[in-house]
Amino acid sequence: MIITIDVPLGGGRSYPVLVGAEAVAGLAAILPKSAKRVAVVTQASIPIDPSTWALGREARTFHIGEGEPHKTLSTIETLCSAWSRWGMSRNDVVVAVGGGLVTDVGGFAAACYHRGIAVIHVPTTLLGMIDAAIGGKTAVNLPEGKNLVGAYWQPTGVVCDTTFLTTLPAAELRSGWGELVKYHFLEPTVQALAGHLLPVDGPAVAPLDDAQPEDVQIARCVALKAAVVAADERESGLRACLNYGHTLAHALEIATGFELRHGEAVAIGLIYAAELGFETGRISAERVAEHRDILGARDLPMRPPPGLDRSELITLMGRDKKALDGITFVLDGPHGIETVTGVAGLAMEAALSRM
Ligand code: GLY
Repeated sequence: MIITIDVPLGGGRSYPVLVGAEAVAGLAAILPKSAKRVAVVTQASIPIDPSTWALGREARTFHIGEGEPHKTLSTIETLCSAWSRWGMSRNDVVVAVGGGLVTDVGGFAAACYHRGIAVIHVPTTLLGMIDAAIGGKTAVNLPEGKNLVGAYWQPTGVVCDTTFLTTLPAAELRSGWGELVKYHFLEPTVQALAGHLLPVDGPAVAPLDDAQPEDVQIARCVALKAAVVAADERESGLRACLNYGHTLAHALEIATGFELRHGEAVAIGLIYAAELGFETGRISAERVAEHRDILGARDLPMRPPPGLDRSELITLMGRDKKALDGITFVLDGPHGIETVTGVAGLAMEAALSRM
């Protein structure tokens, strides 16, 4: 069974997200008819057969390196030069097959090449399927910080083929649950705020309903994210709620030199956001305990790795690009999950101590 969720955007634009085992069978229907060439952007470690993506066109594979050090403008230049030498035109298509790094880089290169060509994302990780590949955020890093140069460039379609997850290392899959737990806490906010603008269209199940097949849980998260993106494509408000748990997560990723997986950092960040919500009088101790119970049951980390300097973490949190006005966090509270500005340093320290 393939579940299709549409991401409706302004101006009558929309694109489908296909979710399910063998969802790749749906690619033929979303590949632009104008495309004569298919540039498959992926990594050497991802076992794929490029002919799967050609579908009667000429296909070539373009490998990018593994790890954050390759998420650079120089990788974008290398890709665009190779596409140009191959004769890629603005009618051709990029298919980005991999985790968040590949879809971010492939998406940004597609956004720049010939001032923008079509891209289809084929996320191969749980994190990619429920977050990175949906919503059109693309970016690369600068030495000065993560994702500092990028573009909103919506894909033509997204194919979440869950057979990729069967070969994903267990630790990588577990890390994806950090983001999935985020959707559990976001769901009431999205229902209340996005729901009146646009119904959350997709399977009506809880993201954490383990009685549901994995693809239905993934499709639920996609539907929640699609509703948020549809309501606020360029993050002028609501979309920031997707960053629940991410302020400490980004600081931890930088402080550990990206040794923590993103979803692990988000899990720790969710506990911190809950403790900070408690310290600022926004949520109860029971709500904090709910965060701990859910993340603990999935064997996700709940405190920063030992040896990290607390004051460095606080400085890094202050530099997070979501910090618009003093120290800004996305916190749970009586009105759901929302952006909170001007959080006091003392509360930030107290919440770290509580971890
Ligand atoms: N990953 C957060 C967003 O797409 O807005």
